[in-house]
Amino acid sequence: MNIPHKILSFVVLFSILATCTVQEDTITNDQVFRDNNTLVSANERFELGFFSPGSSSNRYLGIWYKNISPKTVVWVANRARPITDSSGVFRVLTNGSLLVTAGRNHTTIWLSETSLVSSHTTIINPVAQLLNLGNLVVREKSDEERYIWQSFDYPADTFLPGMKIGKDLVSGFERQLRSWKSQDDPSPGEFITLIDTNGFPQVFEKQGLVPRKRYGPWNGVTFNGLPKHTNSSFISHTFVFNDKEVSYGYTMAKSSIIARMYMDSEGNFYTPNWANQTWTTYWDANTDMCVMYGHNCGPNGMCNGSKSPLCSCMEGFEPRKPDEWSASQWSSGCRRRKPLDCPNGDGFRAFKNVKLPDARRSWYNKSMTLGECDSACKRNCSCSAYANIEIAQGGSGCLLWFGDLIDVRNIEESQDLYVRMAKSDATITEYKSEPNSNKKRRTIIVVGSISSSILVMVMLGIAIAYVWRKKTTFLVEAPDGLDQTTDKVYYSMKSQDDGNDDNDSNITELSYYSLAQILKSTDDFSNENKLGEGGFGSVYMGVLDDGREIAVKRLSKTSRQGVNEFKNELRFIAKLQHRNLIKLLGYCNEGDESMLIYECMPNKSLDLFIFDKRRSLTLDWSTRFHIIHGIARGILYLHQDSRFKIVHRDLKASNILLDRDMNPKISDFGLARMFRDHENEANTSRVVGTLGYISPEYAVDGIFSEKSDVFSFGVLVLEIISGKKNRGSSVKKDSDSLLAHAWRLFEEDMAVELLSPHMRESSVDSKVLRSIHIGLLCVQHYAKDRPSMASVVLMFDQDDVLPLPKQPAFFAKVSMPEVNQFSIDEVTMTELEPR
Ligand SMILES: *[C@@H]1O[C@H](CO)[C@@H](O)[C@H](O)[C@H]1NC(C)=O
Ligand SMILES: *[C@@H]1O[C@H](CO)[C@@H](O)[C@H](O)[C@H]1NC(C)=O
Ligand SMILES: *[C@@H]1O[C@H](CO)[C@@H](O)[C@H](O)[C@H]1NC(C)=O
Ligand SMILES: *[C@@H]1O[C@H](CO)[C@@H](O)[C@H](O)[C@H]1NC(C)=O
Ligand SMILES: *[C@@H]1O[C@H](CO)[C@@H](O)[C@H](O)[C@H]1NC(C)=O
Ligand SMILES: *[C@@H]1O[C@H](CO)[C@@H](O)[C@H](O)[C@H]1NC(C)=O
Ligand SMILES: *[C@@H]1O[C@H](CO)[C@@H](O)[C@H](O)[C@H]1NC(C)=O
Ligand SMILES: *[C@@H]1O[C@H](CO)[C@@H](O)[C@H](O)[C@H]1NC(C)=O
Repeated sequence: MNIPHKILSFVVLFSILATCTVQEDTITNDQVFRDNNTLVSANERFELGFFSPGSSSNRYLGIWYKNISPKTVVWVANRARPITDSSGVFRVLTNGSLLVTAGRNHTTIWLSETSLVSSHTTIINPVAQLLNLGNLVVREKSDEERYIWQSFDYPADTFLPGMKIGKDLVSGFERQLRSWKSQDDPSPGEFITLIDTNGFPQVFEKQGLVPRKRYGPWNGVTFNGLPKHTNSSFISHTFVFNDKEVSYGYTMAKSSIIARMYMDSEGNFYTPNWANQTWTTYWDANTDMCVMYGHNCGPNGMCNGSKSPLCSCMEGFEPRKPDEWSASQWSSGCRRRKPLDCPNGDGFRAFKNVKLPDARRSWYNKSMTLGECDSACKRNCSCSAYANIEIAQGGSGCLLWFGDLIDVRNIEESQDLYVRMAKSDATITEYKSEPNSNKKRRTIIVVGSISSSILVMVMLGIAIAYVWRKKTTFLVEAPDGLDQTTDKVYYSMKSQDDGNDDNDSNITELSYYSLAQILKSTDDFSNENKLGEGGFGSVYMGVLDDGREIAVKRLSKTSRQGVNEFKNELRFIAKLQHRNLIKLLGYCNEGDESMLIYECMPNKSLDLFIFDKRRSLTLDWSTRFHIIHGIARGILYLHQDSRFKIVHRDLKASNILLDRDMNPKISDFGLARMFRDHENEANTSRVVGTLGYISPEYAVDGIFSEKSDVFSFGVLVLEIISGKKNRGSSVKKDSDSLLAHAWRLFEEDMAVELLSPHMRESSVDSKVLRSIHIGLLCVQHYAKDRPSMASVVLMFDQDDVLPLPKQPAFFAKVSMPEVNQFSIDEVTMTELEPR
C-alpha cells in the first residue's frame, strides 16, 4: 500500500509545484510568461504580470503591490504600446534582453533597453527576477550580485525606496520619473521629475521643458527649501554629487514600512505610506502656495505663504511695474531700488531663512568658506548674491548667483542668502547667522472628510508645507499625537455660545433614542451597516421600527469627549432647522455610548456626483441649478435668518449631502462659528477649512466673516457648473486654477464653455451665464467686493443686470491631495465632530 501512496503524494507534490511556478520570483529564458501568469517577490510585497489600468481594458506588463487594493502600479514595461487583448507574452531572451510580444504573429510590443553592462559581457544563462524592493532585474543565473538590466533604471511615475534619480556623469545615462498620461493610460505624460545638473544640481519637476517645482540645492541635510527630515530613524536620504554621478535616493529604516513617492498625471507629487489599510499622505508638497516655480512673484520677488499679498519685493528692491504689482500681477518682478556702484561702493545684505534662488546659472566651489565666498562675489561685478552650500557645522561651500534672483521664498530654518546692494541699502558683510527665532506662526489646518489618521497626516503635510516649521515630517505612527492634533482642529462651541440659558430647552426638543433601539436599527452595529469610520468613531446606517432610515454617528469610546461638550454640540446643531441643512433627529447617551442620529441621505454627497465621470451624467443643468439654489438658501439661513449669525467655514462639495430628491443639505458644523449680533468678522490664529475653498483673507490673515462662506460658495458654484475641482491642475492649461480658468473664459465671452459638454443642450444659456457670473462675483479677491448671501439669492431669483466681477483670487492654485479612495465615508464623519 506504500507505493501507491508515494506515487500519489508525488503527483500531488508535482501538481503543486506546477501550479506554484507562477508564484516564483524568477523566470528563465526557456520559460514563457503569459497574460495569466505572475511573478511574486520573495517577501510577497510585489507582483509582476499583465494588468489593465483604471477603466481601460488595455493590457500592460507591470509591477504592483501584491496585497494592496486598489491595485497600485509602480512600474510599467510597455508604457506607450498597449496590448489590446490577453495574448501578451513576456520572456527573457538568451542575450539578456526582455521581450514582450502579442498577437498571433508575436509582434514585438516592448524590448528592454540595451543596458550598458550587457553590451560588454557575454551572457550565458540569463534569468529575470523580481526582487523584494520591487526591482525587476536580469542577471546571470549564477551571479546574484551583478545586474545586466534593472527596472529601477527606467522608473515610471513612482519613486521607490532603493531607487535613485539623477545622472551618471560619465556615461550621461539619466534616471527620471515621468508621469502617466492619465489614470487609465500609463504612456509617458507631460510631467518629469529629474535632477537638473546645470549650475549646482537641483531636483526639478518640469512640464515638458518648463520648470514647475524646484527643490533647491542639496544642503547636506535636505534639499534647500524643504523641511529638515530630522527623523532619520524613519527614512534616510542619500544625495551623491561627485565627478561620476549626481543622484538622489532614499530608503526606509524598517523594511516593514511601505512607502513610495509618486507624481500623478497632473504633476502633483506625493509621498504616501501604507498605514491602516490605506495610503496615507505624510508629505504633500502640492498644498503649498509658494511651491510653484517662481510662484509668479517674478525675478527678485519673495514669496511668503503666510503673508498677504503672497509676493513682496526683496528688501532693497521695488516693483518693476507698480501698477501690475498692486493688482497682484507679480510676474514682472522687482528691480533694485538703487543702482549698484561696482566695484567701489557695494555691500551685501543678509536675508535670513530663505529658499535659495534657482541655482541653474550659479557657480560653486564646495570647499570655500563663507568669507572666501564673500570676496569671490565682491570681486565679480556680475555676481548678485552668494550663500553657503552645506548647512552642517556652521556652513561650508560657496554658491554664487549672477543676475536676477528667481524663485526665492521665506522658509523658516532655511539658509541665509547674501545679496549685493548699493552701500546705503547694504547692512552687513557679516557671516554669522543668528540662532533662529521661535516666532509663533499660524498653522493652517485643513479638514477633509476623511478618516482621522489620514486627516491628520494630510493636515500635518499641509501644515508643514505652509509653515515649514516642523522639523519632523515623517511622524506617522503616533496615535496619541494624532488625537492631540485633531483636538486642535475643532473649536469647542461652548466658548462661543451666546450665553442664552434657554439652550437646554433645545436639547429636550430632540428625540432621545435608547441604546436598545439603536442596536436594533443598526443590527448591533453590524459591519454591513457601517458607512464609514474615522478617529472619532464610526457611522452606521440604520432603519427605525417605523421604517425611517437614519445615519448614526457613534462616538468612539476613546475619544476624549466630555459629556458636557457633547451636549453643547448637540444644542448648537439643534438650533438649526432649515430644509437645506442636515437634520439632527436625536441623540443617544447611555453608559459610555454617545451617539448622534441624523436623517439618512441616500444620495450621499455632492462631490460623488459632480466629480465622477459617470454619475455626473445623471445631473442635468436644472438639477444642478436646483442644488446651487438650495445651497444658497441654506447659507443665507445660517448667515441671516437663523436666530444666530453662523459662519460655516467649511463649505465644500463633500459637505453638501443630497437626499432622495437631490435636495442639497449642508452638513458638518464642526468648524462653524457663531457670531454675536454686533460682530461682523473675527480673527483666528488657527485657520481651519479646506484648500481650494478658503478665501484669501482667511487663508492668509486668518480673518473670516460671512464673506469667507460667500467665497466658498462661489467656488462651489463654479465646480457644480464645470464638474471640475478647484485644485489648479485638472484644467489642462498649466497652473490655471478653476477660478482663473473661469475668469479667463468669462473675459473672453466664452463662459459657456465652462459647462460640461453633456449639459450644454439641457441648459438655458442665460441662466448658466448668470450663474457663472454670480459665482465669479463671489470669488472676488477682496471680501468687500463680494456680495452678501442675501444679494446672491436675489441675483438668482431676479433678472437685474449684474455688476462686473473683479479678478478672483488666483491663489487657489493650491490643491488637495487625492483622497478618492476614502470617499465612501463622506456622508459620515463630515457632519459634526464632537469636540
Ligand atoms: C493560462 O493561459 C493559457 C493559454 O492562454 C492556458 O493554457 C492556461 O491553462 C492558463 N492557465 C491558467 C492557470 O489559467
Ligand atoms: C500576421 O501576419 C500575416 C502574414 O505576414 C499578415 O497577413 C497578417 O495581417 C498579420 N496579422 C496581424 C494581426 O498582424
Ligand atoms: C537581443 O536579441 C534581440 C533580438 O534577437 C535584439 O533585438 C536585441 O537588441 C538583443 N539585445 C542585446 C542586448 O543585444
Ligand atoms: C522617528 O520615527 C520612529 C518611527 O516612526 C519613532 O520610533 C521615533 O521615536 C522617531 N524619532 C524622533 C526623534 O521623532
Ligand atoms: C575651491 O576653493 C578652494 C579653497 O579656496 C581652492 O583651493 C580650490 O582651488 C577651488 N576650486 C576650484 C575648482 O575653483
Ligand atoms: C564673473 O563671473 C562670470 C560667471 O562665472 C564670468 O563669466 C565672468 O568672467 C566673471 N567676471 C570677472 C571679472 O571675473
Ligand atoms: C512670512 O510672513 C509673516 C507675516 O508677515 C512673517 O511673520 C514671517 O516671519 C514670514 N516668514 C518667514 C519665514 O520669514
Ligand atoms: C491605525 O492602526 C494602528 C495599529 O494598527 C492603530 O493603533 C490605530 O488606532 C489606527 N488608527 C486609525 C485612525 O484607525
